[in-house]
Amino acid sequence: MKNTPFHDRRDYIRRTFAHEPKQQQAIRNGLTGPEDQISVPPEDGRLLQLLVRLTGAKKIVEIGTLGGYSSLWMAQAMPKGGVIYTCEYEERRAKIAEKNFKKYAKDKKINIVRGNAHETLPLLSKKGPFDLIFIDADKVSYAKYLDWAENNVRKGGLIVGDNTFLFDAVWQEEPNDRVRQTALFAMRDFNRRLSDPKKYQSMLLNTGQGMTVAMKL
Ligand SMILES: C[S@@+](CC[C@H](N)C(=O)[O-])C[C@H]1O[C@@H](n2cnc3c(N)ncnc32)[C@H](O)[C@@H]1O
Repeated sequence: MKNTPFHDRRDYIRRTFAHEPKQQQAIRNGLTGPEDQISVPPEDGRLLQLLVRLTGAKKIVEIGTLGGYSSLWMAQAMPKGGVIYTCEYEERRAKIAEKNFKKYAKDKKINIVRGNAHETLPLLSKKGPFDLIFIDADKVSYAKYLDWAENNVRKGGLIVGDNTFLFDAVWQEEPNDRVRQTALFAMRDFNRRLSDPKKYQSMLLNTGQGMTVAMKL
């Protein structure tokens, strides 16, 4: 750990707990375009690993691959024989992820599911039920992704959603310029449904962007 002062709580958490492996650093550094700076931060990668280890998740679905950064964090925590299906509809990004997996995850089973998740998820159902479903794609679709996840996660499995503060729009009264109304409705619906204690043991974790974690009861 560097000897420089910590900037804030997040900086303290990252520098104390995240321990970003070299492979993850390389994936992040390889994503150079400004529009590609949307991987989870390292401390959230570490948190995803913890969730995978806690549940012993062997069959994982990720919606939103980008360069494969979060996939690799989860893959490293999977038990032997584990598999990740990660959905990506931008071919450029799927290609980057494919290269990264070949280079940094040779011994892991990570299958890139190319195409629009709205079309590919129903086809994935036959491989389920899944132990963990990680949702990190277009925000307007979160409620739709949840429709699928609720039916395809096993009892005791996890549904995890990233960015669930939606840039704080979920709790703010004033309209948020960064967020469309449709995305706001979808995200509020997503969190409301996962907060149902009859169906889930759940919490919205106060990470930088908010991460909702729900275990199906
Ligand atoms: C926030 S990024 C994922 C970041 C990744 N989980 C990580 O942390 O390394 C969201 C990704 O989802 C993809 N995406 C968005 N909507 C999608 C859809 N309907 N089907 C498949 N992929 C989608 C985007 O192209 C983008 O690469």
